[in-house]
Amino acid sequence: MARRKALYEGKAKTIFEGPEPGTLIQYFKDDATAFNAEKHDVIAGKGVLNNRISAHIMTKLEAIGVPTHFMRSLNMREQLVRQVDIIPIELVVRNVAAGSICKRLGVKEGTVFPYPIVEYYYKKDELGDPMVNENHIFNFGWADPFELEEMVAQSFRVNDYLNGLFEGIGLRLVDFKLEFGRLWGDFDELYIILADEISPDNCRLWDVKTNEKMDKDRFRHDLGDLVEGYQEIAKRLGLIPKDGIIHGGNIDEKAACELGEIENELAKERRLRSVNKGKPKNPRKA
Ligand SMILES: Nc1ncnc2c1ncn2[C@@H]1O[C@H](COP(=O)(O)OP(=O)(O)OP(=O)(O)O)[C@@H](O)[C@H]1O
Ligand SMILES: [Mg+2]
Repeated sequence: MARRKALYEGKAKTIFEGPEPGTLIQYFKDDATAFNAEKHDVIAGKGVLNNRISAHIMTKLEAIGVPTHFMRSLNMREQLVRQVDIIPIELVVRNVAAGSICKRLGVKEGTVFPYPIVEYYYKKDELGDPMVNENHIFNFGWADPFELEEMVAQSFRVNDYLNGLFEGIGLRLVDFKLEFGRLWGDFDELYIILADEISPDNCRLWDVKTNEKMDKDRFRHDLGDLVEGYQEIAKRLGLIPKDGIIHGGNIDEKAACELGEIENELAKERRLRSVNKGKPKNPRKA
């Protein structure tokens, strides 16, 4: 393939120009970072697993009516996505206390919240992605109330779906982070689309029986082999063979290359739902 133009080099992914206007290629790297990139390592196979897991979850979400940017898997590290205008707010949904909320509010790790908590963070690496509220979001014009309402509603749906999906394979969904973007249709209607990735890089997943952490906290806090945790999640989701595809830092290329096809088979026409509420109509004039 001809050399493509890299549009953005992120911490975990590189974004390339897609084959058609309005599309992008997400390339999943093996880089792992934590604490705003203070800690960094390259972990063979991480990108392959995240690409696979994210493709699977996005496909499942699409099937229950959550619009996502995912179009199809291209190979073991790349997926084709719709290009969106990323809304600079990260939504974090928390079911169980872990990470920053424990420090900030003095909650004991593992405390189950009676109702899921949604938090907003302003996407700005230089500022360390600070937590913000609706007033900041509207004042600075990062999103309008209709957009935020849609993002929150979709986040709760994703949470309900993922709680069930992971509970079914003996994993507890502690928390996760989502990013959304704007997409305009042919008639200038606006769609809010789930973008970026959903993978163990941005979810906390604990084994239901042992509470063992399977996600990026293994890397953040040196709790064990990161790839082992990610492989275990992929295995339980039925995405990779039982004996894994990465052994001692070596990727079984043949097995890895065949992984994306299932989702491509499942990918259907994308249905998009507009959130343009339009002007209120006067019922007496109807
Ligand atoms: N469909 C999409 N259209 C446009 N940009 C996207 C899309 N999906 C994800 N992105 C953006 O691409 C980048 C993905 O790279 P990566 O996750 O490595 O970034 P990052 O280092 O975490 O940086 P950032 O702080 O920008 O998220 C992110 O900036 C993300 O917001
Ligand atoms: Mg990111």
